[in-house]
Formats: sequence, structure tokens, C-alpha cells
Amino acid sequence: MTTLNVDLGDRSYPILIDRELIGSVGLLKQYIPARQVMVVSNETVAPLYLDKLLSTLTDFEVHTHILPDGEEFKNLQILDGIFDALLKVPCDREVTLIALGGGVVGDITGFAAACYQRGVPFIQIPTTLLAQVDSSVGGKTAVNHPRGKNMIGAFYQPRCVVADTGSLDTLDDRQLSAGLAEVIKYGLIRDPGFFSWLEENMDALVDRDAAALSYCIERSCRNKAEVVAQDEHEAGVRALLNLGHTFGHAIEAGMGYGNWLHGEAVATGMLMAADLSRRSGWLSDQDVYRTGALLKRAGLPVVPPSELTASRYRDLMKVDKKVKSGHIRLVLLKSIGEAFVCDDYDEALLNQTLSAQTIY
Ligand code: NAD
Ligand code: GLY
Repeated sequence: MTTLNVDLGDRSYPILIDRELIGSVGLLKQYIPARQVMVVSNETVAPLYLDKLLSTLTDFEVHTHILPDGEEFKNLQILDGIFDALLKVPCDREVTLIALGGGVVGDITGFAAACYQRGVPFIQIPTTLLAQVDSSVGGKTAVNHPRGKNMIGAFYQPRCVVADTGSLDTLDDRQLSAGLAEVIKYGLIRDPGFFSWLEENMDALVDRDAAALSYCIERSCRNKAEVVAQDEHEAGVRALLNLGHTFGHAIEAGMGYGNWLHGEAVATGMLMAADLSRRSGWLSDQDVYRTGALLKRAGLPVVPPSELTASRYRDLMKVDKKVKSGHIRLVLLKSIGEAFVCDDYDEALLNQTLSAQTIY
């Protein structure tokens, strides 16, 4: 088992990575401080992994709450259903919430844990590649609002993250590709050596080679943990983790939540960020080409949706957490491995990127 640490002083926690961790008896015990546990999962993941998890929790009073599956259910109404389930038991302020599922289950359960009785212990068991390499680590929790993605939420760190890489065996290829978008992001923003490694190993990853996948999860989590340890609340460097997300969130909301997967929208968004960086004279043609080629090999979309006009993009992009005093700030690239937050891009060039039908 690989153990990484997210170094946040007295709120530090481990990321445990290996196959067959969900059924590992005794693994979670030290992270559950009291008797009551509520496992939150969804209707797809629960039939696959819930019994296995419950078989390891026989020392506890365990309750379960199963959500409908989909990004469109990451909302205040479904969150209220979690509170209702907790109060119905009733669960006290020492209950530990365990999120068993992808980023949707993780984000909404984490936010429930942050709010329930002003904060209860929380464990992440991510079961998608995207959740294992990104969303389960770092304490961002949220639900969507019809007017904007992840607009209602809190920073709230888990007690531990348990990434059972064996759970990826049941994940479909489209979801695996969506996770690879966030993996490629680390190479683009801060780890050029990893980007080159991904260029060499993308075929193995897409073919689900176990050693390649496990290395890529570990290196991604290392990148994420380092950034979060430096800037937990996104006052600076953590903003770079949002490369492609301002464009991507506009695609997700504009196309209707759930139609474009988050990772797919981020992939195309990263290419749009690369395109604006090139138009601005900061990024070479060659680096835009390498970015597009790698995303494509990962099975990700590289063509922005033709349904969204530049003016619709702009309306959607104004509802973004990086907006300051009404101005849209963007994460852009200087090279593969070097990103920066930009608020003085040329508006005409942004319009060209938003209108471009072909980038790569
Ligand atoms: P998801 O949670 O919707 O999961 C994708 C699909 O895979 C779902 O249908 C799910 O039921 C299914 N699934 C999950 N595990 C499975 C398994 N092992 N086998 C078979 N099917 C499985 O999507 P996601 O890509 O995991 O997460 C996307 C969400 O994460 C978005 O809401 C995004 O905003 C959020 N996110 C949050 C952060 C953060 O820092 N908190 C970072 C990135 C993304
Ligand atoms: N996924 C972006 C972040 O955690 O900051």
C-alpha cells in the first residue's frame, strides 16, 4: 500500500492507495472516533461495493443513505435528504460520514459533513479515477446551483482518503478518460516530467495497465497534496488547479449538467486555455499541439461544443469563483508545466477563442 500525506498541521491526513482496500478489515477504524457511521453512496456504486465496505465496519452502528446517480443530483435538495436521513436516526455530532463513490458523492457528502451540527468527521472512499486523483483530496466540498457549478460549498478536509484502485475495474471507459483529464492537468500546470511520462504511457493507461494506473494515481495525488499543503484555501497557487475549469464549467452548465462529463469539459477547457495562451503569444504552437494530441489519445473531446456562442460563454463564465470585481480571471499557460493566473488577457483574443470551432 502506498501512503501519502496531506500536510495540513493538526488536520493532516493520509491518502491510502492500493487494490482491495474497500474490503480491508480494520483499515478505517482509527479514523472513526465514535460509534455512529453513515455511509453515503449512490445507486450505481452501492450494489458494487457497499456490502464489501459494510463487512469491515461490524464494530460500529452503521447507517446507509443511497443517492440517485448523476451530476444533476449534486444539489441542495439532495443535500437536504442527507441531513434528513442523519436526523431521522438520529445521528449525533460525532457521527462519521463516509463517502463511497465518485466526485459527486464525495463533494456532496463532504459538504454535508461540513454543515451537519457544524461539522462531523468525514472519510473519502473515491471509486472513480477522477475522484482518486483529484476531488477526494484537498477538502473542496460543494453542491451546484442552477446558476453556477459548485457555487454553494465549504473547505472541509476528510480524516483520510482510501483509493482502492481495484474499484476502477468496474468503471467504464468514458469515465476513465474523464479522470485522465485531471491527470493531464497536473502535467500541464506544474509537472512537465509527468506530462512526458503520460505521452509515453497513455496507451497503457487507456488499456488499464495496473502498474501504469497506480503510478499515475500516486503521482497525481502527490501533486495535489503538495499544492493543497501550500495553499489550502486557494489564496494563490491552488487556483492553478483550475486550469480549463472556467471554460469547462461554462460548458457543463451551458450544455446541461451531466451531458458533458466534468472531465470532458475540463479537457476541452484546458485546450481553450492553451489556445488563448497561444493567441496571446505566451504558448508555442508545439505545446498546444502536444496538449491536444495527449487529450485526444486519452479519449477526451478536443472540439468545443458548437451550441455555445461567445456571448453565452461569457455569461456563464461570469459565475465563477475566480471572478473578482466582475472581471473573469483565467488560468493560462506559458509552457507545458508552467501555468499562471491572468487578468490582463486581451478581450478580443478571448472572443476569438470562444468562437473557435477548431483548436487542435
Ligand atoms: P461521478 O461521481 O458522477 O461518477 C461518474 C460515474 O461513475 C457515475 O455514474 C458513478 O455512479 C459511476 N461510478 C463511480 N464509481 C464507479 C465504479 N467504481 N464503477 C462503476 N461506476 C462507478 O463523477 P466524477 O467524475 O467522479 O466526479 C465529478 C464531480 O467531481 C463533479 O461534480 C466535479 O465538480 C467534482 N470535482 C470536485 C473536485 C474537488 O476538488 N472537490 C475536483 C474535481 C472534480
Ligand atoms: N480541483 C481543484 C482544487 O481542488 O483546487
